[in-house]
Amino acid sequence: MVKVNLGGCSSFVKDADYKEYVDKALSAFDVLENESGAGNDFLGWKHLPSQTPESLISDCEAIRDSWKGKGVDLVVVIGIGGSYLGAKCAIEALSHSFAKQLSGKKDAPEIVFAGHNLSEEYICELMDLMKERNTAAVVISKSGTTTEPAVAFRLIKQYIETTYGKEEASERIVAVTDAKRGALKSLSTQEGYKTFVIEDNVGGRFSVLTPVGILPIVLAGFDMRAMMRGAEEMEKACAERSAENPAIEYAAMRNLLYDNGKKVEILVSYNPKLQYLGEWWKQLYGESEGKDGKGIFPASVSFTTDLHSMGQYIQDGERMLMETVVTVEKSSRSMTIADDPQNLDGLNFLSGKHIEECNAMAELGTKLAHIDGGVPQLSISIEKIDEFNLGGLFYFFEKACGISGYILDVNPFNQPGVEAYKKNMFALLGKPGYEEQAKALQERIK
Ligand code: PA5
Repeated sequence: MVKVNLGGCSSFVKDADYKEYVDKALSAFDVLENESGAGNDFLGWKHLPSQTPESLISDCEAIRDSWKGKGVDLVVVIGIGGSYLGAKCAIEALSHSFAKQLSGKKDAPEIVFAGHNLSEEYICELMDLMKERNTAAVVISKSGTTTEPAVAFRLIKQYIETTYGKEEASERIVAVTDAKRGALKSLSTQEGYKTFVIEDNVGGRFSVLTPVGILPIVLAGFDMRAMMRGAEEMEKACAERSAENPAIEYAAMRNLLYDNGKKVEILVSYNPKLQYLGEWWKQLYGESEGKDGKGIFPASVSFTTDLHSMGQYIQDGERMLMETVVTVEKSSRSMTIADDPQNLDGLNFLSGKHIEECNAMAELGTKLAHIDGGVPQLSISIEKIDEFNLGGLFYFFEKACGISGYILDVNPFNQPGVEAYKKNMFALLGKPGYEEQAKALQERIK
């Protein structure tokens, strides 16, 4: 269960102001619940946890089992933005930190990602790996037309066809895309790939609980049913029209702080497994809120490591920051700090303490120092890092994002700004239809 604690903001805001923002959040909540706001044709994510049929997970498990039967030990997941970050976040959070280096038989294939950049080195190095391994691929693109994954897929498809034969390739490639439209859909139909559908009413960054996230997470060997249960619990908790609804609390406070000059929100975690939670969250909030000249700028850090890089700025730099700390209450592993009779390092005051106790005190000490330095702290806690809690966290952040976007008075479900770079790139690369824009750009860069 995800819990929100706003105690670390109390010295920055007045109670009456917070109440006013809770009222704003309740109104935004009504708009979201009544589906009467901008982008209301993209609200399919709201009931995914309670309405996703079990059979979808079973279908993904069937692919997992069939690829296991072929001895597949490497799955390349191709996608970008919302078609990549949710799965990457979950798999990073749930995997052993040294899974790749550990010896011994692996129960699940290694999952690697492609199509989220246009680096030639990256794709060549991925090919080096594929040559050593027994490979299958999942290509994910809702629109089916995004350049980065399309380029990567063309190359990976050719490699799989050449290596395993065209017929076998059709069993080693699965597509996740729109039900009817897009180049990926028609290509998949023609090549006979198994396909999963991303429904029209779910936008990319809200799609982690669709096959976009479900298939890679299942292939990686994790318990998607538990993740859905955790998300469903938060679907219920975040459906309450109440000032205690955690999504309302979070949305209200971050907007109040924003209107009081805290223009940047830093998502903080104290466990490196959650680094990609920050990446997923930044996309969710950045793409949903950063428009019409408005929006909190989302940033992320991983402490304690980044206390030795970004810590100085956060403590002492321009005072435009708020922090949202994702606290994990329990570690799933246990180790205490050993006593050393010589105590040459002077660390015997820590003897017998759990490492996580030091981490917790670093978290508390940092919180107090940052509050003293003028950085309000919002706290979001989960019991531990597992499928259930991650599912809850995903849903909580999505619901709060919808509410928060409506408080800000933007359409949280579109992303018109993403098109600008694409048009320039197409023009510069000579895509048919972009001749006029190409000419104008060439004039500018002469
Ligand atoms: O949230 C979004 O809509 C975007 O980030 C998309 O997920 C991203 O651009 C990839 O799009 P597509 O899945 O159509 O390839």
